[in-house]
Amino acid sequence: MGFSPSSFDWLIGCNHFCGRNVPVKGKQIELVQDFCQSAPAVQGFAGELNQIWTNLIVNAVDAMPPGGRLIVRTYPDREYVCVDIEDNGSGIPEEDQTRIFEPFFTTKPMGEGTGIGLDIVKKIVDRHKGKITLDSKPGRTVFTLCFPTA
Ligand SMILES: Nc1ncnc2c1ncn2[C@@H]1O[C@H](COP(=O)(O)OP(=O)(O)O)[C@@H](O)[C@H]1O
Ligand SMILES: [Mg+2]
Repeated sequence: MGFSPSSFDWLIGCNHFCGRNVPVKGKQIELVQDFCQSAPAVQGFAGELNQIWTNLIVNAVDAMPPGGRLIVRTYPDREYVCVDIEDNGSGIPEEDQTRIFEPFFTTKPMGEGTGIGLDIVKKIVDRHKGKITLDSKPGRTVFTLCFPTA
């Protein structure tokens, strides 16, 4: 399997959930999608990109109470295509923000968190020559991922 032009198929495949309340990990979550009409393709491994969305969405859901709102947004930004994964959950304390990408850093109880999700995400983003940034305060956390266009 090679590095090939790849769209955000998996994210866009979730389209039919848009604006709906869906149960995720036993919680009702409102899913809001805000996709730009024609995101250019990015160069990458679709399977790895999917691991990124999965990890970020699971983390977002873990941080939110039932009834939380998850927003997934895509938009072009110069030579990049960006994806925001935004939740209205607890937020990440400032002292943790520099540590969350470390392997095995978790604030979740034993048996629930492994702390490897964001370590994997960071490695995949680096392999795709992408960028990941975080903006978090209580009640609003946004992970932004930008990938070079194909
Ligand atoms: N959206 C989020 N809201 C609040 N905290 C988060 C969010 N995403 C990640 N975190 C924090 O980052 C830590 C590390 O995440 P991760 O590497 O995926 O490991 P895990 O989910 O197994 O704990 C989490 O334990 C949590 O403290
Ligand atoms: Mg995780």
